[in-house]
Amino acid sequence: MWCSGLRKRYGKRTAVDGVSFSVGRGEVVGLLGPNGAGKTSVIKMLLGLVRPDDGEVLLLGRPGRDPRARERVGYLPELFRYQPWLTAAEVLTLHVRLSGARVPAAEQADVLARVGLAARSGDRVGGFSKGMQQRLGLAVALVARPELVVLDEPTSALDPLGRVDVRDVVLDLRERGVAVLLNSHLIGEVERVCDRVVILDRGRVAASGTLAELLGQRELRLRLDGLTPAAEARMAAVGAVTRTGREVTVALPAGEEDAVVPALVADLVGLGVRVHAVEPVRISLEERLLGILREEHA
Ligand SMILES: Nc1ncnc2c1ncn2[C@@H]1O[C@H](COP(=O)(O)OP(=O)(O)OP(=O)(O)O)[C@@H](O)[C@H]1O
Ligand SMILES: [Mg+2]
Repeated sequence: MWCSGLRKRYGKRTAVDGVSFSVGRGEVVGLLGPNGAGKTSVIKMLLGLVRPDDGEVLLLGRPGRDPRARERVGYLPELFRYQPWLTAAEVLTLHVRLSGARVPAAEQADVLARVGLAARSGDRVGGFSKGMQQRLGLAVALVARPELVVLDEPTSALDPLGRVDVRDVVLDLRERGVAVLLNSHLIGEVERVCDRVVILDRGRVAASGTLAELLGQRELRLRLDGLTPAAEARMAAVGAVTRTGREVTVALPAGEEDAVVPALVADLVGLGVRVHAVEPVRISLEERLLGILREEHA
């Protein structure tokens, strides 16, 4: 899936302002950003549900306008509601028929089992809880053997077990070479499953890249007593130092922490510093996201 220069205005408000990115086969990409950033609008333009004012979309090698491009796309919308008079199994059968794919009943039952609804397949959807309806929506997105799967906040209504199920489903799709685009406010979830992320803010791409690119900087957190000017100078020789009381953070040079950390600790001890804790950490995607958004709004 590929898009370039997508733009959309609603009245005087520009919702999407020149968005370009791609998702390759076997790749999981996370679309992140605050409420109203334009994530759902971008997804709807990719899927041909909203007409862009400008820009281009290619789905599985075909122009987004081509209905055949959508045959192999699975989609879980942000706001979902399925025919309340149908059973879960009937909803799946209906969507299989709409997609034009041939999926045997046993395989459809497997998909329901995968989202934890095996025991409810004969029950009417009208009596389903919100989370059960979202699980059904996930099954709908998966059932017609899609090559691209787009999930708009797939876990917003799910319990913790359901979230783990979604993670497993996404990793399984990647393994099978399916392209996955995923939008969630649960950043930890995105960090666990995504290869790359695209951060939207006010309709524009504020940052994008692999997790390694975005979170590349590692740092060392230390708890120290008896710091001397010599010890401070030793730490500053490694990287930028920030200190609040006994808690000290040292930025680590990329790729060298294996050699740098033990040598630094040995030298600090040699300089008479008492070392209580040493922990190399990578900043979390959440911290990075907040940093990027604060910069954008400064
Ligand atoms: N149908 C519509 N009519 C008018 N304005 C719209 C419409 N759809 C979206 N917008 C506006 O476009 C902007 C982006 O909305 P969008 O739903 O894409 O945000 P989002 O990033 O998905 O947010 P959230 O995290 O809350 O789901 C918002 O300012 C919204 O008010
Ligand atoms: Mg949205």
